[in-house]
Amino acid sequence: MNKTYSLRRLCNLHEHLIKQHRVIRYKSNTSNELNSFVLYDKFICERRSQSKCSVLVQVSSENSCSDLHSYCSKFGSIKNIFHYQLAGSNHFVLTEFEDQSSVNSLLDQSTHIKDSNVIAVRSPFLWFRSNASKKNSKLSVIDNKFNFPFQANQTMIEPNIKDIGLNKLDSLSNQMLLLLKCTQLNDIGTRLRFLTAMQIENALKGIFPLSKVLPFGSSVNSFGKIGSDIDLVIMDSQTTENETSRLIYHGKCVSNSRTQTQRNIEILGDLLQLFLPGCSRVKRISQARVPIVKYSQDFIGVECDLAVSNETAVNMSELLYIFGNFDYRVRPLVFTVKMWAKEINLTNDTPGRWITNFSLTLLVLFYLQQEKIIPDIQTLVKQARNNDVRITNEGINCTFLRDASKLHRVVENKKTLDQLLLGFFEYFASFDFNTNAISLNFGKTINKPEYSALYIVNPLEVHFNVSKNISSEEVERFRIELRNAAWTIDSSLMNTNSFNLLDLFKGFDVNKKSQIVFDIQHQIKNSNRLVTVKDLFDDDSQTQEDTRLNKQLK
Ligand code: CTP
Ligand code: MG
Repeated sequence: MNKTYSLRRLCNLHEHLIKQHRVIRYKSNTSNELNSFVLYDKFICERRSQSKCSVLVQVSSENSCSDLHSYCSKFGSIKNIFHYQLAGSNHFVLTEFEDQSSVNSLLDQSTHIKDSNVIAVRSPFLWFRSNASKKNSKLSVIDNKFNFPFQANQTMIEPNIKDIGLNKLDSLSNQMLLLLKCTQLNDIGTRLRFLTAMQIENALKGIFPLSKVLPFGSSVNSFGKIGSDIDLVIMDSQTTENETSRLIYHGKCVSNSRTQTQRNIEILGDLLQLFLPGCSRVKRISQARVPIVKYSQDFIGVECDLAVSNETAVNMSELLYIFGNFDYRVRPLVFTVKMWAKEINLTNDTPGRWITNFSLTLLVLFYLQQEKIIPDIQTLVKQARNNDVRITNEGINCTFLRDASKLHRVVENKKTLDQLLLGFFEYFASFDFNTNAISLNFGKTINKPEYSALYIVNPLEVHFNVSKNISSEEVERFRIELRNAAWTIDSSLMNTNSFNLLDLFKGFDVNKKSQIVFDIQHQIKNSNRLVTVKDLFDDDSQTQEDTRLNKQLK
C-alpha cells in the first residue's frame, strides 16, 4: 500500500514539477534549455530496455488488473502496470518488470491454444484467461484494485481539441502549451511503440540475431502525437565493422539491392500476415522509393510502416529530436502548426499531392532558424566530434553534433509563442515559393535547383527535395491559408488583445472573404484602387501592402 501511495504522490509531484518547470521555462527565455538534454542514443537505449522488460496482456476488464498483477508477480518484481482500453471493449495491461529475466520466465510458463493450422509464436503479446475458481472473489478484486503500482490517466486515444479547455485560457501562448501537453505522445504511447518494434525484432531473432528493429519518425523525434503512425526500420545492430576480427560471416551475394529489398518486403509482409499476433491489414508497398510493409497493430490500435533499411531516416529523427529539445518554443510551435494544417485539411492521412507533417515541421524549424532560435545544420556539422561521425551503408554522411548541450549558444530572441506563431504565418504568407528553395543546412533560402512547387532541401540527402510530392495547387491553398491565419490572429489580437486557438482551426471561410474585402474597402477609402479578394490572396507584394494598410488603419 505504501508503495502505491508514494508512487501516486510521486506522480502528482512529477505533474506539479512539469507544470512548474513549464512556467519557469516559459519565463526563463531558454538560457538553460539544454541542461537537461537527454542524448538520443540514451533515450532509445532506455526505451528499448524498458520494452524488453515488458509484456502486453489483454484482459476482460479493468477489474482483472489486480488478479493479473498477483499472477505476474510470481515471475518477478513488477515495476509498472498501465491499463488502457481501445475502441470497443478491448482492455489491455502493459506490465513492466524490474528485470528482463522475469519476462523470459513468464513467457516460458505461458501456453498457446492448440490449433493445427497455426504455428505457435512466442511474443510479448498475451491474453489472460479468467480463473473460474476465483469468480466469487470478485469483490476483493475490486477492493484491491489499486494495491499495486497502477498507472491510469494516460490515454491512447487522441483527445478532441474542442474538449481540452483551450477556450479557458486567455493567452494564445498558454493555449499552445496546453495543446502540446494534451496531444503529444505520452509515456504509455512511447512504451507501446517500442514494444511493437520489439515484437518484430523477437520474431526475426532466430534467423537474424544481428538485426534490431527501431522506431523512427514522429514516434521518437519529439514531435509525435497520441495516435500517430509508427515508422519502423530493421537495422544492423552492429554499428561499426570490427576491423580486428579475422573471422567474417559468409553472406549472400546480392546482384540488385533494390530487387532484394523488394523481395525482403514481400517476405516480411508474409511473416506479419501469417504468424505475428495483432498484425492485420498487411500491405506490401514494394514500388515506393523506400519500400515498406504497412500494417495495423490491433493491440496498440495504430498503423505501422516497416522498412527494411532506412538508416538516413533514423539519423533524420535524431536531428529533429535535437531541434525539438533545443528551445522550449520549438515543440509547441510545431504542434500548433501541424494541428492547424490537420484541422483545415491541408494535410491528409493518405499520402498524395498535399503537404506532409514532415515538411511542415521542417518549415517551422526553418522559420525558427530565421529567428535565430535554433542553429542551422552546418553549425551542428562543424561542431561534430569524433564519436558523432556516422556514414550510412548507402554512403550518406549523417555526421553532426549529437550532444547539443555542448553547443555554445546565446539565444537573444525573447519572442513569445504567440508572436512566433503569427511570425510563422506572416513569414511564409509572403514567401516566394516560386524561386526559393528552403535549406535548413545553411539556414537560408537558395535558388531552386529544379522546378517543384515547393522545394525543401533534404537536410541529410541534399540532392533530394523533401516536398517533391506537393502540387502547385496545394502550395497555393497553403499560401491562402497562411494569409488567412495571419490575418485572423493579427486582427483578433489587435482588436481584443486575446485569441482563441480554436478560431484558427476553422480555416479559410469563403463568407469571411467578403467580410475581409468589405472591411478593407471601407477602411481604405482614400486609396485609389479597389481592393479585391484577388488582391488579398494572390500576390505576395500585394499581401504585404494589405498587411501594412491593415496595421495602419487599425
Ligand atoms: N523522412 C525523410 N524524408 C522524407 C520523408 C520522411 O527522411 N522525404 C523520414 C523523416 O525522419 C520522418 C520519417 O521519415 O520523420 C517518417 O516519415 P513520416 O511518417 O512521413 O513523417 P513523421 O515525421 O513520422 O510524421 P507523422 O506523424 O505525420 O507520421
Ligand atoms: Mg510517421
